[in-house]
Amino acid sequence: MIVVRTVAALRDALRDRRAGAVGLVPTMGALHEGHATLLRAARSADDTVVMSIFVNPAQFDEQADLAAYPRTEEADLALAEAEGVDVVFAPEAAEVYPAGFATTVSVAGLIAETLEGAERGRSHFDGVATVVTKLLLAALPDRAYFGAKDAQQVAVIRRLVADLGVPVELVVCPTSRDADGLARSSRNTRLSPDERARALAIPRALEEVTDAAAAGTTDPEALRARAIAVLEASGIHPDYVAVVDPASFAPIARLDGPALVAIAGRVGATRLIDNTLIAPSGALAPGGS
Ligand code: PAJ
Repeated sequence: MIVVRTVAALRDALRDRRAGAVGLVPTMGALHEGHATLLRAARSADDTVVMSIFVNPAQFDEQADLAAYPRTEEADLALAEAEGVDVVFAPEAAEVYPAGFATTVSVAGLIAETLEGAERGRSHFDGVATVVTKLLLAALPDRAYFGAKDAQQVAVIRRLVADLGVPVELVVCPTSRDADGLARSSRNTRLSPDERARALAIPRALEEVTDAAAAGTTDPEALRARAIAVLEASGIHPDYVAVVDPASFAPIARLDGPALVAIAGRVGATRLIDNTLIAPSGALAPGGS
């Protein structure tokens, strides 16, 4: 495994490997088992696996959140090596955003403006879209891997790849969960034992909504109310509980096809997000996370 810090060195490292398929797994480090599932998917499909580690300042709306983001490069490199990564691209901020940087990739419309876009501000998904575009151009991978855990991020990236004609296949991997159901996240380490226990209301709320949908509830308001009751019972006042079209992120009027249920809320000081795909009763299971 080699570690490169510049786009030029990344291109050099990949020059002789282009005959085979190149897979890119973009990350912000602080790697956990959820990231490892993406690396394994890439390892099994691609000849060369590239993983990027870059804590992207442009996508943080709160400076405190950026400062608090865990930086664990040594452990990240060990995990990458163990998962068979070939090339790690870990640039400094000045390599990604050189002096005079003035371009933003901005996906317009509901996909980027609603839910996380509304909570974290317009600049969040602009920051994600811009850095992902830069990473795709730096590595020019055949496939790029993203987690369903960040469903709205996936929708934003799908849109920009289609709109800009980026020649890459997006692979979306299911949300990886701890045995008790909590979606894996680098933020989970910030939870106290009591908060960790209360956080389980989030996957429980998603499960209850899934079950209610399968049992015939089609009113999105009834589904939302059910989730909110589960969350509130554990002292979580959600930022949102949304039942939306999985592609457009428009709220649905009635559950008559696959829908995405997305939840965000703080447990203590830690903000968590999770989601699942649901389907009306009688429909085939939609799969996903
Ligand atoms: P980061 O939060 O490090 O996540 C990197 C990738 O791992 C994302 O695609 C995310 O969806 C995926 N991931 C995280 N937790 C997961 C889980 N429990 N199960 C499955 N996949 C999981 O997302 C980002 O970084 C950044 O926004 C990035 C795309 C790198 C752009 O800066």
